[in-house]
Amino acid sequence: MIYIAPSALAADFRRLEDELKDVERGGADLLHVDIMDGHFVPNISFGPFIVDFMRQSTSLPLDVHLMIERPELMLQEFQRAGADRITVHAEACTHLHRVVGQIKDLGIHAGVALNPATPLNVLDHVAHELDLILIMTVNPGFGGQRFIPAMLPKIREMRRRLDEQGLTHVHIEVDGGINEQTAKQVIEAGADVLVAGSSVFNEADRAEAIRRLRG
Ligand code: DX5
Ligand code: ZN
Repeated sequence: MIYIAPSALAADFRRLEDELKDVERGGADLLHVDIMDGHFVPNISFGPFIVDFMRQSTSLPLDVHLMIERPELMLQEFQRAGADRITVHAEACTHLHRVVGQIKDLGIHAGVALNPATPLNVLDHVAHELDLILIMTVNPGFGGQRFIPAMLPKIREMRRRLDEQGLTHVHIEVDGGINEQTAKQVIEAGADVLVAGSSVFNEADRAEAIRRLRG
């Protein structure tokens, strides 16, 4: 099963509710929600206040991607705002295992994201606690960037390690530059949750765009 998660960052925020309803009707499985703090990444998006509006505008599960420093300080706020899963960056957590535990204590799914230059080894002692691993396929901060092909062997190796440890239930999510072509490649490499911003929201027919990503 392949899950498609349109990234709200690429929606037209003047008509946010309609945009979210449109991708929900179009067959999206999750709504990906990018939170940027201007420190961890060189851009600022929005906070729990807007996530709460999103929660009221769609019944899609909210897949919250925290690109923020000290994410442990904000977990509860995002869970209260409606997050169904929270993904933190390994690079932003001094005590990664503890933060993962804090997310799970909130009763929601936990994920860890890795920037393109971060090796898989940082997950060695937490993978068994996770619901998902997010392999960034661009350097985070902006929508509409080009997919980094060197991430394909990284995805393949992550899938191999999960299989080897019997962790077949852990999702591998990819984020950045996913379009019809790169979707095929990441699925073949072992990813099963595909985040797509511009390749869904920049198309007039979102249902068709989502169908094409599923391959
Ligand atoms: C990048 C964000 C992505 C972004 C993807 O920092 O984490 O979720 O919205 O956008 P596209 O699909 O346009 O690369
Ligand atoms: Zn994201």
